[in-house]
Amino acid sequence: MRVLGIETSCDETAVAIYDSGEGLLAHRLFSQVAVHAEYGGVVPELASRDHVRKLLPLVKEVMAAAHTTREHIQGIAYTAGPGLIGALLVGACVGRSLAYAWGIPAVGVHHMEGHLLAPLLEPNPPQFPFVALLVSGGHTQLVRVDALGQYQLLGESLDDAAGEAFDKAAKMLDLDYPGGPQVARLAQLGDRQRFVFPRPMTDRPGLDFSFSGLKTFTLNTVAAHAGANGLPDDQTCADIAAAFEEAVVDTLVIKCRRALEFCAMKTLVIAGGVSANQRLREKLQTALQKIGAGVFYARPEFCTDNGAMIAYAGCQRLLAQQHQGLNVEVKPRWPLDSLPPLTHYTRDS
Ligand code: KG4
Ligand code: ZN
Repeated sequence: MRVLGIETSCDETAVAIYDSGEGLLAHRLFSQVAVHAEYGGVVPELASRDHVRKLLPLVKEVMAAAHTTREHIQGIAYTAGPGLIGALLVGACVGRSLAYAWGIPAVGVHHMEGHLLAPLLEPNPPQFPFVALLVSGGHTQLVRVDALGQYQLLGESLDDAAGEAFDKAAKMLDLDYPGGPQVARLAQLGDRQRFVFPRPMTDRPGLDFSFSGLKTFTLNTVAAHAGANGLPDDQTCADIAAAFEEAVVDTLVIKCRRALEFCAMKTLVIAGGVSANQRLREKLQTALQKIGAGVFYARPEFCTDNGAMIAYAGCQRLLAQQHQGLNVEVKPRWPLDSLPPLTHYTRDS
């Protein structure tokens, strides 16, 4: 089955074509970073308008890159939630309408299921069952994954998501949006021992997270070392970035280990924008090796938002005969564990 995937849940317009027999045929992404940069974060209305401008040209580009005409497309997958409602509606309306015009089924995909399955696009994919750490700009969740479509929430952030915390720390250090990669880059120049930030909620049992206290701790440290321009000197900024990154990474590592032990599993999958973080990958690798467990992740461009993960997840659902009616429905809030199970899955599908 050949599926066109459309992602417009936030600030990237992304399109891909996935074929269950041939794999990923083409993918393209238009990032709206420049549109939102001057506001220091995503402006929902500007995001929607830009998706309207970019989506159809991107669909044409991807079809050409995949040497695919509409007769070869057998289904359309679009992100139906969670995300910004206006942005979601653009992808859903275009996806649903194209499917109607081409006489093929359309399926609304859960954005976080897309992230969760992205590592399955890699040459050496993880085997079920596994524990997944979903770490994006809007979510921090630990999920038990027994099979495709069988998700059980083990724990989640009670306040800020990990990516959101990175973005806020970046703002405090006067770094550009999106902040995660910028904080990570600056942290490489920092002394990881100079400041020790708290590892929130690791001293008590459970698999939930909280990053708002760490945010306040970061703000106070910046203020305590600020010079006349309101910022600490360059080296201190780098040291703060390093201390912040260490604290987030250590917290995630501790909870991942705990979740694997709780589920008696040896496979961890990390997905979502923060799973691109190099320090997180290194520290997980080391910590999990000690307990004989392994960690899997997608290539960096498929950790952040992309069309390939939506085409792939949508293809699995369409193969299981799941698709939408003619109405266009999006869900800005949508619990992952409310999704119906999928039973058809085989390694090469
Ligand atoms: O998954 P994603 O692209 O979008 C959402 O679904 O939210 O995740 C974006 C988040 C942003 O908060 C961004 O700062 C963070 O992922 N991020 C990173 C890195 N790359 C992206 N955080 C830390 N280190 C990175 N290398
Ligand atoms: Zn995402």
